Amino acid sequence: MEDTIIVGIDIGTSKVCTLVARADDRKRFHVMGVGIEPAKGIRKGAIVDLTQASRSIRRSIEKAQRTSGMEISAAFVNLADTDAKSTNNQGVVGVSGKMIGQSDIDRALESAKAIPLDHNYEIIHVIQRGFVVDGTDGIRTPIGLYGYRMEVEAHIISAEQSSVENLNQAVNQNGVSVLNYVLNPLASGEAVLTDTERQMGVVVCDIGAGTTDLAIYINGDVWYSKVLPIGGDHITSDIAAGLRLSTEEAEEVKKVNGYAIEEHIEPNESFVVHAFGSTEPIHVGRKTLAHIIEARVEEIFYMILQEIKRSGYDGLLPAGMVLTGGSSLLPGIQELGNRIMGVPVRIAQPENLYGLVDQLHSPAYSGSVGLLHWAMLYLEAEMNRHDKRNKPSKPEEKSEPKTIMDVLKEIVKQLLP
Ligand SMILES: Nc1ncnc2c1ncn2[C@@H]1O[C@H](COP(=O)(O)OP(=O)(O)OP(=O)(O)O)[C@@H](O)[C@H]1O
Ligand SMILES: [Mg+2]
Repeated sequence: MEDTIIVGIDIGTSKVCTLVARADDRKRFHVMGVGIEPAKGIRKGAIVDLTQASRSIRRSIEKAQRTSGMEISAAFVNLADTDAKSTNNQGVVGVSGKMIGQSDIDRALESAKAIPLDHNYEIIHVIQRGFVVDGTDGIRTPIGLYGYRMEVEAHIISAEQSSVENLNQAVNQNGVSVLNYVLNPLASGEAVLTDTERQMGVVVCDIGAGTTDLAIYINGDVWYSKVLPIGGDHITSDIAAGLRLSTEEAEEVKKVNGYAIEEHIEPNESFVVHAFGSTEPIHVGRKTLAHIIEARVEEIFYMILQEIKRSGYDGLLPAGMVLTGGSSLLPGIQELGNRIMGVPVRIAQPENLYGLVDQLHSPAYSGSVGLLHWAMLYLEAEMNRHDKRNKPSKPEEKSEPKTIMDVLKEIVKQLLP
C-alpha cells in the first residue's frame, strides 16, 4: 500500500499546531511539516474572535506548508465544544441477505444515530464499539457472518452547530476544507493510551490551557467523553490575582517556580517578581505560589472526579488516570492527582514519532498527534467501507485496489463546492 499523507490542525486555547505527516505501511508517522503558532481569539477551546483565530490558523498552516514543502487543502481538525454531549445507543437491523455485509453495518449505525438531539446540535461522531448477532455479543467484525438480527453498540457525540460552524469558517477562510472533526479527548486518548489500559478501564485527561478533556475507555472502547471549561489559564489568572502580576509574568512564574503541592516546598524557598504598584522587585515565597496553584489544581481534579461519577463508570477504571496536556507538565501534579482521585496516575506524551519531532514529544501535543491517529483510523474505515461496497459480485471481476490516497481524494472532492 502506498504511504498516506495526513494533515491535522489542533486549534487550542494557547496554540494552534498544524502537522503534516506521512503514515507508512506499518502505521508509523513521519512528521514532515510542523506549524506551531500562539493562538489568538480562542477562549476555553472556542472561537471568540474569528479574524484573530483565522489569522493564527493561517500562520500555523503556512509554517507547516513551508517546512513540509506541501500545499494543504484538507485537514482533520479538533473540536473542543464544552457543551458537546456523549451518549451510548444501540442500532438494530434485520440482516438483508443472511450474510452480514457493509450495508447492514451502515444501516445499523444509521439507526443508532436516532437519538433525541437538542435544538442546534449535530452529530459529529458515531463510534462503533461492538456487535451482537442473533444474541451473540462481543463481536467486533461481523462482516461475512450469518445471522438474521444484528445490533451495533455505538458511542455518539453531538456538538453545538455554532461551534462547528465557527471552526469551519476559521479553517475554510484559509482555503482548507475540514475532512472530519475530532472531539479533543478522543484525539488525546488515541495518542497516549496503551491497548492494555483501554482494555482494563482507564480515564484519559488532557489538561490544556482553556479546557480539560476527558474520555473513559473500558473493554478497549470509548464509553464516555467530555470537555470541561477549565485548565491552565485558570491557574495563571489565580497567580496573577494573588501576586498582583501581569498575566505574562504569572505564566512565567508558574512554569519556572510552580509546584502543585504546598507541603513539599521548604519555607525558605523564594523568587523575585515585579508586582503591580511596586517599583522595586519583591521576593515571594514558593510556598505561597504552591498554595495558590494547589487550590486550583485540586478543584480541577474534583471536577474530573465529579464527571467520572456522573458517567456511572467509576469503579471500572483499574488502570487509573492518564494525564496529558500542557498543564500536566506542572511538577507535583501526578502525586496530587493520585491523592485526590485515589487511582494510579501516569503522565503521558506522544511517542513513536519520526521526522520533525523535537517539540512534539511533550504532553502539550497529545491532542495534535492524536488527530493524526484519528485520521488514520477514519481513512482506513472509509477505505474498508469503499472496498466492501464496491466488491465485485463475481470473483473474476477484479477491480484495481483503491489506496487510502484515492479514497482521501474522493472525500476532498465531495467536500469541495
Ligand atoms: N511547566 C509547566 N508548568 C505548568 N503549566 C505548564 C507548563 N508548561 C505548560 N503549561 C501550561 O499548559 C497550558 C497549555 O497546554 P496545551 O498546549 O495542552 O493547551 P492548548 O491545547 O493550547 O489548550 P486547550 O486544549 O485547553 O484548548 C498552558 O496553560 C500552560 O501554562
Ligand atoms: Mg489542547
